[in-house]
Amino acid sequence: MPDRPTERIRRKRVGRTAGRRVRPRNSVVPPRPPRQGPDMTTTAAVEQLLPGGLRLRSCRPGDLEQVGALLADRGEPADALDQRLVVEDPDTGWDATAVVVDGDRVVSTATLLADSVRLEDVVLPAGQVELVATAPAYEGRGLVRALMAWAHDRSAARGDLLQVMIGIPYFYRLFGYEYAIDVPPARPVPPE
Ligand SMILES: CC(C)(COP(=O)(O)OP(=O)(O)OC[C@H]1O[C@@H](n2cnc3c(N)ncnc32)[C@H](O)[C@@H]1OP(=O)(O)O)[C@@H](O)C(=O)NCCC(=O)NCCS
Repeated sequence: MPDRPTERIRRKRVGRTAGRRVRPRNSVVPPRPPRQGPDMTTTAAVEQLLPGGLRLRSCRPGDLEQVGALLADRGEPADALDQRLVVEDPDTGWDATAVVVDGDRVVSTATLLADSVRLEDVVLPAGQVELVATAPAYEGRGLVRALMAWAHDRSAARGDLLQVMIGIPYFYRLFGYEYAIDVPPARPVPPE
């Protein structure tokens, strides 16, 4: 790993096997320069006004069905369950997911998980961005760019030393990620 204080690792996601994600490879990137914009350095609930009257805020129980439907529509049905398990877990909680809302409608979402990366006997606290999606009619407005800024600020504020993720090819390079670690492909095991 390069000699830098903060690194981001990106794992390329290619699918699921028997309910588990298949992780073919990962990557590392240089830290981003300080961001300009609203202060989102708290790990608590967040609320930010975006262009067009949209609002970025922490997920609430009333959002759950819409977030699940958005994730299932844009990703995989199991993503909805994953997100529900995260926010209903008291160790992570509702603030682990952020949503962008247009009025009462959830139009984009991302989740920051707590992870760790082990380098021999050194364990580094890490943030893992997952469960990212934007509704088709709202794509290309910078909503995921805003959500990634939220996730990175939240991760840094709680002391993570790097960020990791499994994501679609190329896209997350826009946010400073690089491929880092090869993950061997896995074959699905058919049910008996
Ligand atoms: C990929 C996706 C999350 C992008 O959301 P979005 O809100 O439209 O993204 P943004 O508008 O914030 O775009 C951020 C940047 O990514 C670029 N971009 C958007 N979609 C892209 C794509 N599919 N491939 C490459 N770049 C893309 C934009 O041009 C923008 O670049 P810029 O800020 O330098 O101008 C959304 O299209 C989506 O939900 N896709 C289906 C689900 C999915 O693939 N989720 C990710 C799983 S890991």
